[in-house]
Amino acid sequence: MSSITNPVVPKGLEGIVATNSSICYIDGEQGVLAYRGIDIHELADHSNFEETCYLLWFGRLPSRAELTDLQRRLAEERYIDPAILQLLRNAPRTALPMDVLRTAVSALGFYDADERKNDHDANIRKAIRLTSQIAMIVAAYDRIRKGKPLVEADRSLHHAANFLLQLNGSKPSATAEKALDVALILHADHELNASTFAARVTAATLSDMHSAITSAIGALKGPLHGGANEAAFRIMDQIEREKADPVEFVGNMLAQKKKVPGFGHRVYHTEDPRATHLRIMSRELGQSSGQPQWYEMSDKIEKFVRAEKKLNANVDFYSASTYHVLGIDEDLFTPVFAVSRISGWAAHVIEQLDDNRLIRPRAEYMGPGYPNPYVPIEKR
Ligand SMILES: CC(C)(COP(=O)(O)OP(=O)(O)OC[C@H]1O[C@@H](n2cnc3c(N)ncnc32)[C@H](O)[C@@H]1OP(=O)(O)O)[C@@H](O)C(=O)NCCC(=O)NCCS
Repeated sequence: MSSITNPVVPKGLEGIVATNSSICYIDGEQGVLAYRGIDIHELADHSNFEETCYLLWFGRLPSRAELTDLQRRLAEERYIDPAILQLLRNAPRTALPMDVLRTAVSALGFYDADERKNDHDANIRKAIRLTSQIAMIVAAYDRIRKGKPLVEADRSLHHAANFLLQLNGSKPSATAEKALDVALILHADHELNASTFAARVTAATLSDMHSAITSAIGALKGPLHGGANEAAFRIMDQIEREKADPVEFVGNMLAQKKKVPGFGHRVYHTEDPRATHLRIMSRELGQSSGQPQWYEMSDKIEKFVRAEKKLNANVDFYSASTYHVLGIDEDLFTPVFAVSRISGWAAHVIEQLDDNRLIRPRAEYMGPGYPNPYVPIEKR
């Protein structure tokens, strides 16, 4: 008897519920996103990235002492084995930061104190370690490829501020720190997106956290997922360099049936609630840094694509101009997405393993009929 229960599967698994989860709530019709039930707008307005990590990993908001303790543990884990730094130095100068990050995270497993452990507490420790290390790797590789000296971590700083310090070599302004901190909160989790699903599939084989996060980084890289923020900025940069009209430029893309990166979403049929904050951030940072052109261009493109295609901007559209104004290179945009999303990936890996079953769906076979006889080579 066939074990296939529902042979009609929508392409891309659209609308299929593939797991139970208590981490992230999305209402795509109303534009609602919540972590552990707490609305993303409240978290963006009142929380910080470390507190959001606690919420994702432990299922509730921390007390003051619990938050202080997590912040201390994250700061203590700002350490990378010299062998990993050597690996970053050995990468070809042309290597994409996202590829370097994927390879480095895989290699981090060799040096992890809990390498052979896959229990709940060990995975919480790995989540904390990886959150600190991923940020450090992204910053360190950018400096190495530019021939700049590495910057020591400052354990007195919050996660966002320390990342900007290690990336840029100077302490960020309060505005820049706050902007990145909010961006990290907004990107932290998003239910069963492609990279999180990849992480859960890997974890469910009883592999390990580093393998699961490596799978996730590989999935995040693609331009249909996290790679869209970089692709969106490349278009804006080209428009700026060619002094082109943004509406005409994007109109041409649509006429050629090209997708405009940063628009559309599988789940949201209304405004992506993360875009609401990033739009404001892009405008305010653009004004305060004397670079209002990126927001102004984004605004024109957004209005045009909405009118023309009824598509809303997603998280990646306004994160592009926000990160650019923060002084982050465009090929670091997707790695910076990972700097945040490690929190959600780790929460999902832990949740998966707390109540695990192998994830092994079926395919609807569409090939030649069975039995298709084997024809000896001399008779073909
Ligand atoms: C996010 C995304 C992958 C969702 O894809 P999906 O649910 O599979 O939707 P589809 O790609 O099937 O798109 C449905 C229709 O909308 C159009 N569309 C979707 N996103 C579009 C975009 N960004 N620009 C132009 N048209 C778009 C498609 O061409 C398609 O039109 P058609 O029915 O006439 O062929 C898709 O919107 C996309 O590729 N966006 C750009 C990349 C991006 O920003 N990704 C980050 C997501 S957070």
